[in-house]
Amino acid sequence: MTRDRVEAALGDAFASLGEAAARGRPVYRGKVRDVVGGERALLLVASDRISAFDRVLSTVPFKGEVLSRVSAWWFERCSDILPNHLLPGGDPVSLGLGRATLVRKAEMLPVEVVVRGYLSGSAWRDYSSGKGISGIALPSGLARNERFPVPLVTPTTKEANGHDKPISGTEIVASGLVGADLWREVKAAALALFRRGQELAAVAGLILADTKYEFGTVDGRLVIADELHSPDSSRYWWSGSYERLFFGADEQRELDKEPFRRWLSEKGFVGEGSPPSVPDSVRADTAWRYVQAFEAITGENFESIGADPQSEEALVGRIVAERL
Ligand SMILES: Nc1ncnc2c1ncn2[C@@H]1O[C@H](COP(=O)(O)OP(=O)(O)OP(=O)(O)O)[C@@H](O)[C@H]1O
Ligand SMILES: [Mg+2]
Repeated sequence: MTRDRVEAALGDAFASLGEAAARGRPVYRGKVRDVVGGERALLLVASDRISAFDRVLSTVPFKGEVLSRVSAWWFERCSDILPNHLLPGGDPVSLGLGRATLVRKAEMLPVEVVVRGYLSGSAWRDYSSGKGISGIALPSGLARNERFPVPLVTPTTKEANGHDKPISGTEIVASGLVGADLWREVKAAALALFRRGQELAAVAGLILADTKYEFGTVDGRLVIADELHSPDSSRYWWSGSYERLFFGADEQRELDKEPFRRWLSEKGFVGEGSPPSVPDSVRADTAWRYVQAFEAITGENFESIGADPQSEEALVGRIVAERL
């Protein structure tokens, strides 16, 4: 895909799924995905909404499709580590709709499992202001974006309203959020998924710096659900420039949402008060970064298998009628 095509698509971003497409099924609207519920299955429809600091702020063309297809790419490549929530033929390409994913409904664990290979983002902010990171003691003198000797698991709660809060593994078990045995399984799975993520990212010339996993159980068995190593749930850097930028104390070349967050912070918005309105230039930059993430990770040229929002809704309606 070219940057020109991204700019031409700014007017076609998919903001949200109309009720009619759900054909009377309940629709749960997350910040990014509209989830159509069935008995045992769910249709995840990734919109082009972009959220930052837990607020929905604008739309970015192709974003929903990039998230869905990148996640499906990773689910396939990690299925030997842990079963995932995809139903057979439930990936976006098989469904013929780039932003849709058909999954098994899981009992979601009430925590988000963040794995960090590098000291970055909120972990850096906490560390540099003297706070611990999810109860983990770290040596002093680490630099921003420095690689950890071994990846850290830094879970957070999943808050229905407001910001997720850091929580330690010990607290998760002690408070009964997740049983001790299941938590041990979750932690091991998260680290194994992250190792695979870092290995395949490296082949693509990228560093998977950190990511967030959401696990659930289906019939009592642990599965990896939600998205997997998508540019919304992960931080990706180009590996070729990592060292130079690290020693220059510069920003990494990022293929994720971080530049968008930085733009907001520069405008004085970090989650409180009224957000600035996002100009088309920033929307296009962000879309282009997501498209590049797709192309770098998968090694494929990005060709959208979406359509105009109306045809997409019609297709969703058909999938709901036939598969849910
Ligand atoms: N297999 C699954 N079974 C049940 N729920 C799932 C499954 N996969 C993902 N989910 C849930 O679907 C929702 C996806 O929507 P989205 O990611 O837009 O929400 P969010 O903004 O991250 O979170 P919130 O739900 O707090 O608004 C999430 O709540 C996620 O936990
Ligand atoms: Mg989410």
